[in-house]
Amino acid sequence: MFDVKRRAMRVLFVLDPLEQLQLETDTSLLLAEEFRRRGHETWFATEAVFRVDHAGVFVRAWELHVAESGAPHAGLEITAPVKDFTLVLMRQDPPVDAHYRFVAQALGFVAAEVAVVNDPASVLQWNEKLLPLRFPAYCPPTIASHDPEELLHFVRQEGTAVVKPLSDCSGRGIRIVDVASAPSAIEAVLAAYPGEPVIVQRYLPEVARGDKRIFLANGQFVGAVNRVPSGPGRLANIHQGARVESTTLSEREREIVAVVGEFLQRQRLWLAGLDVIGGFLTEVNITSPSALRQINAVTGEHLETMVVDILEGLARDLSHRSRQLTV
Ligand SMILES: Nc1ncnc2c1ncn2[C@@H]1O[C@H](COP(=O)(O)OP(=O)(O)O)[C@@H](O)[C@H]1O
Ligand SMILES: [Mg+2]
Repeated sequence: MFDVKRRAMRVLFVLDPLEQLQLETDTSLLLAEEFRRRGHETWFATEAVFRVDHAGVFVRAWELHVAESGAPHAGLEITAPVKDFTLVLMRQDPPVDAHYRFVAQALGFVAAEVAVVNDPASVLQWNEKLLPLRFPAYCPPTIASHDPEELLHFVRQEGTAVVKPLSDCSGRGIRIVDVASAPSAIEAVLAAYPGEPVIVQRYLPEVARGDKRIFLANGQFVGAVNRVPSGPGRLANIHQGARVESTTLSEREREIVAVVGEFLQRQRLWLAGLDVIGGFLTEVNITSPSALRQINAVTGEHLETMVVDILEGLARDLSHRSRQLTV
């Protein structure tokens, strides 16, 4: 609940286990520090500690502290109804698996009263690597299928292509293929991610100049950074050693931001990271979009303040609306 008198919020972060977080690059902790600086309470939970029963949705949560060094540590432990929190930030990294879906489904029960970011229904509905296909004018030719023959047919048309698992991140499982190497690469992804289709996308050679990350909050532009692969054949993910450099948006990229931003706002996908290569939208990150620290590093700004302003606004609006409904 939003404590009107104290104007303080209880913010719950759903995170991967703390020891898995990469402190130099982690966006969740940067946001947590900003919430604490403003006097809000910060708590965290992992995917495994949610419970739904007749009485509601409950979570085992720990106070989230961030030391001077940037290292997170757990404080007091409580088990509480999720409705006791003002804002819940789902920030687990992919894969979007059964654990992830259960948390989203559980939070769906309370999303009318608690601000849940991103909206649980929308993170269940949309996949971050398929979402660009919602915007065909900006998405490079792409196919998702379980059928190796269909996927190979696409590669034969393209010559060179990128093979991606549907539900992973940070460049994991991604391979650049030609007609000769495609069959084994496709088989490898089908085997490594059982039950999931494989995505094959046109290879964009402009990736040598970088994969731009554009961070949006409530559909609005927050900041951007260009990620340049560390060598030929290397991926442009920060976790794959890409270097970051400052950037500006082209006219086409501004158009992508306007069109996709409007969609994200409508879908209540409050925090998102667009990946753009050579002016083409290749991914819309909606699970735990990051790179805020890198954007700060190249712009000299503290963009977590803008993001937290927007999140505070969302939580206040929802709190006003749900109070009006219950009066
Ligand atoms: N269409 C493409 N053309 C060239 N390289 C690509 C393409 N799509 C992805 N890549 C490479 O793979 C990396 C990760 O791709 P992405 O689709 O953003 O998945 P994720 O970041 O979730 O692993 C990119 O930074 C880039 O190096
Ligand atoms: Mg990406």
